Order: sequence, then C-alpha cells, then structure tokens
Amino acid sequence: MQPAKHEHWSSGFTFLLAAVGSAVGLGNIWRFPYVVAENGGGAFVLIYLAIVLVFGIPLLMSELMIGRSTQKPPLMAVQQLTKGSKAQRLWGLLGWSYLLVPLGILTFYSVVAGWTIDYAIGMGLGSFNDLQDGDSARMFQELQDSPVKLIFWMTLSIGITVAIVARGLKSGLETTVKILMPALFVILIILVLYASITGDFARSFAFMFTPDFSKITPELVLMAAGQAFFSLSLGSGAIMVYGSYLTRDISIPKMAVGVALADSFVALLAGFAIFPIVFAFGVDHAAGPGLVFVTLPIVFNDMGGIGQIFGMLFFLLLAFAAVTSTISLLEPMVAQFSESGKFKRVRAAIYTGAGIWFVGIFVALSSNILKDVYPLGFIPLFEGKNIAGVIEFLAANVFMLLNGLLVALFVGWSIKRSVTLEEMGLGDSVIFKIWFMLVRFVVPLGVAFIFYDVVM
Ligand code: PFF
Repeated sequence: MQPAKHEHWSSGFTFLLAAVGSAVGLGNIWRFPYVVAENGGGAFVLIYLAIVLVFGIPLLMSELMIGRSTQKPPLMAVQQLTKGSKAQRLWGLLGWSYLLVPLGILTFYSVVAGWTIDYAIGMGLGSFNDLQDGDSARMFQELQDSPVKLIFWMTLSIGITVAIVARGLKSGLETTVKILMPALFVILIILVLYASITGDFARSFAFMFTPDFSKITPELVLMAAGQAFFSLSLGSGAIMVYGSYLTRDISIPKMAVGVALADSFVALLAGFAIFPIVFAFGVDHAAGPGLVFVTLPIVFNDMGGIGQIFGMLFFLLLAFAAVTSTISLLEPMVAQFSESGKFKRVRAAIYTGAGIWFVGIFVALSSNILKDVYPLGFIPLFEGKNIAGVIEFLAANVFMLLNGLLVALFVGWSIKRSVTLEEMGLGDSVIFKIWFMLVRFVVPLGVAFIFYDVVM
C-alpha cells in the first residue's frame, strides 16, 4: 500500500484553532475549577501560571519543532531525527511512548466525554428539572452505576471522534475546529457574563487571584504541574503531530505562546463561569470531581426555567471542548498507520477506535462491576487503583511527565543545534538562548523532580 501523503494546515490560524482545541478540554472546564477549589484558590492559580510559563511554553515549542522539522507523525519523527546516532534505539522508545500515551488517555477521556453528552441531552430534555435534595448526587451515581449507559455514551463519543479523524486533516479536523471552537468561545462568554451578572463575581475574583502563600506546598506544586501538562496536551503526541502539519513560514514560538495563553485564559474563564454562581447559591465550591456534574445541576435547577437553557449550554460547551481534544488524541496513531503505509486513513481510524473502545469498556466498568478490582494492587505504587485508576495514573501522571522530561533532553542535547536554530526562527537571540537554557537544564531538572515525587 502507498503511504499517505503528509498534509498541511490551511493557515497558521487553523493550526491555532486546532491546537487550542486540543489543549482546551475537560481539563480546563471540568478539572481546573475543582482542582483550584481543592487547593485553596489563588496560590494554586499563581503556581499553575508560573509552570505554564517556565515549563509549558518551552515544551510546546520543543514538540512543535520535532513535528515541523521532520514533517512526520511522532514515532517516525523521533526515528528520523535520531537516524544514524548511537542512541537511535533508545530514543525510538520515546517515539513509541508518544504514540501510545494519547491512546491511554483516550480510553478514560472518552468515558468522561460520554458523561458530558449524557448531561447535555438530559439538561435539554429537562431531566434535571425539579431536583429535590440529594437528587443530583443520586443521578450522577446512577450514571456511574450503569455499565450500559456509560458504554453507550462512550461508544458515541469514540464514534464521533473516529468519524472526524477518518475524514482527514482538511475535511475532518479543520472543519470540526472551525465550527466548534468559535461556538465554544461564544457559549463560554455567554456563561461568564451570566455568572458575573447574577453571581458573586467579586468573591470569585478574590478567590482565584488572592494567593495565600502559606498554602503553597510540594503537593500543590505537583498538582499544578500535572494539571498544566494535561491541559496543554504535552507529552502525548497531539501537539507534535499537529506541529508536523505546520508549514515552514509559521513561527513556532508565536504559536506556542498563543496556545498557552488561550488555554490558560479559557481555564480562568471556566472558573468565572462556575464560581460566581456556586458562591451566590451557597453550595459547596470544593466538591471535587462532582463540582460540575453534581453541584452545577443543583444551581441550574435553582435558577428556574432559564437554568435549563444555561445548563444545556454548559454541558454542550463541555462536549464540544471534549471532541476537539479527542480528535487530537486519535490523530497521532492514525497518522502513523496511514503515513507508514500500513492502512488507509479510514481503516486506521476505525481499527484504532475499536482498540480504544475495547479498553474503554474496562474503564467504564471500573466505576461499577469492576470497581474493586485492583490489577496491580500488589505493587505499592498502584495500591488502591482499579483498572481506570491504573490507566489514568500511568498515562497522565507517569508517562506524560516522563515524555516531557525526555523530550526536553532530546531537543536540548541530542538534536543538532543548527536544526533547532532554524526551526525556532529567532536567530541566535536572547529569547532563543533563554528557551535553549530552559529546555537543557530547567525543564529536565524540574520535571525530574516532580516525577520523582509522583512515582517514588
Ligand atoms: N488538553 C486536554 C484537556 O485539557 O482536556 C486533554 C488532552 C488532549 C491531553 C490531548 C493530551 C492530549 F494529547
């Protein structure tokens, strides 16, 4: 079979839409607000933003560079850059890791994306109207307890992702982000305006931006780093493969800064869509993962008729954000299959999707039938983690960080400086030198430290 030709984004702007689409997801709208709340607000936000600046942007630049300089999907890209070097085989493992981590993430991400579709439809149909005490928590629990529902919604979420990716870069990915990203921003702005007019905006602002320095602990730094990596789609092939579709005339540093800014901005906006109403209605703001799925439906219910509309909009926003992320998680493998000539894109998308679906079933069952099955429980690090827990921990905590660490070493020490210089397009300027120093020393040491703390 002929290997598929490598395509390109229509413009820098479409790349930006797609990359921001990948970065902005459940991590920003579902996870960020509750992690901020659990970690005491302002102090966490401050550390988070610092990590985005010092680690996030340099790593985004590095991953984009690997993709763009080779014009190949992650595994082939790393292989090409190390061809002929002694460490070729070793670095090849990094390529494999970049190929497999997004698939691991996709297995649990698709399940949560499924919840958002269920909630968007449920809100629209009025299933969350007239909630009594305890109803909201009970409804969320019912979803978790139902293998049929979870698998059904997960199947739909994977099906949508496969259908989009199968259509290819231009008619699949680009068309989707061109429609969904503007819709996402409009919905988010409407929700923020509504929340700030009717809710307690001042308290939310103080909560998110007044850092209580006594709250900064090593654990908080770890949480912030994990959240930043996940939110920026680092260490997982998505940014690298999207970078490979960039043409030479586009500035990598500018794109990296654009993605980081937009992603952080949306995370903060999500906080301003949620906290003002949560504070105004006096419900618990530190409700953990249930903040969005248990607490918000109560608030929307208390708003009366209009709440149903805003509720539906909110979960639609989450579902859109999820889709523009899931497509970027499927793309690395599909590109690898089609550009290495193994399968045509459509088949590659279907086969990969089917594999994700199969593993996803075990993730979905981890909240009910297989809840108390701890496959690696005999290893202290995995104690108390069921199947979903193990996959999530390995993909999102261990390998994403490890990939980030290795990629910094790879770009900083292994790739020829002439390649880096040319790709960055900054000349031998101060900015280039700062970036180079960050990827050579600061990022690897910082991530190694975080990694050590997570794993040891
Ligand atoms: N950045 C996405 C989010 O915040 O929800 C999640 C994600 C997408 C992680 C793509 C990794 C990735 F490659």
